[in-house]
Amino acid sequence: MIRLLCHILSLLVTAHTSAVKNCHPGCHCEVEHFGQFDSFSLTRVDCRGLGPAHSMPVPIPLDTTHLDLSSNAMGPLSDAMLTGPGYTTLISLDLSSNHITKVSPNALSRLRYLENLDLSDNSLESLSSRALSGLPLAEVDLSYNSFQNFDMDVFATKVNGEPVIVDLSHNQIRSISRGDRRGGVPLIQSLSLTANRLTDVPALEGLPLRYLNLDDNPISSIREGAFGQLKDLVHLSLSGMSGLREIQPHCFKGLQSLQVLDLSGNPELKTLSLAIFTGLDSLQELNLSNSGVTSLPGDMLARLPSVKSIALGQGIRCRRTQKQGQFHWQLGQVTHNEVLSCNVEGVVL
Ligand SMILES: *[C@@H]1O[C@H](CO)[C@@H](O)[C@H](O)[C@H]1NC(C)=O
Repeated sequence: MIRLLCHILSLLVTAHTSAVKNCHPGCHCEVEHFGQFDSFSLTRVDCRGLGPAHSMPVPIPLDTTHLDLSSNAMGPLSDAMLTGPGYTTLISLDLSSNHITKVSPNALSRLRYLENLDLSDNSLESLSSRALSGLPLAEVDLSYNSFQNFDMDVFATKVNGEPVIVDLSHNQIRSISRGDRRGGVPLIQSLSLTANRLTDVPALEGLPLRYLNLDDNPISSIREGAFGQLKDLVHLSLSGMSGLREIQPHCFKGLQSLQVLDLSGNPELKTLSLAIFTGLDSLQELNLSNSGVTSLPGDMLARLPSVKSIALGQGIRCRRTQKQGQFHWQLGQVTHNEVLSCNVEGVVL
């Protein structure tokens, strides 16, 4: 195992870059080679801010894997804007800050290896369920748009109802593969919907999400069952929601893998019932800083068996600690009591 790790490390360390022929004026192109015989390569093309009048598609080198087209005032994304030889091999595409109001259903359909899509800081109100279908997306950033609701059907890897089988045999990069790429299975692991106009937690049940960010949305109440069974979710951020007043009991119930829950910066959130924490068996970090919650029930630890630290107020940090063990005569052994101890007195009730 260690030898294998060393081998992988040596492969990574030997990475080097080279220039690219045929780089479009105004873009910056770079090929990164790695592997013992330079057997792997990534081609990164940076065409940020080419100027508003620049015509699309921008020609890019063959085998481009990473493309940054941010800040180009592209407007509505049409079927023709992302076409050409280099586009079909893209793994990562940045379309942020482009005044995109619409994504035509086939605008992205040729990008059949696309794992990482950044559409942040645009003016999207919706996405057609076909716009992302068939793409092996793992990470999608839709923050700073205008979604009022969000339909998870966009992540179904199906075209016309048929599962898409992606042929990976001709692409070396695919050998660093992740997850299950068979058709029909959504692969999305990370989704940001920060700073949209969502008034409710969108239904995302059944997606294999590990990271979800809903910060800064006009959500006033988080209802029971809101997160369904997002059983792979590790990190959930629900912060900066100035209108959030209520979190109903059992609303995090299915989140059995959740390690980090960020509820910071929610000033109207004043009380938390203990029943909110039902089912959060893996939770390690709870962030309530700058929220309306100023004290914690002392028996919280019983509900949160894995919690290590809780932040609240301004700079108050509480940690799970063991009280001095006492010899328990009946059990004939030393028992340890776990308590929350904070850097400020009077927080734990
Ligand atoms: C809690 O959230 C605040 C505000 O978002 C952030 O500054 C702080 O670093 C977080 N604390 C922890 C322990 O994650």
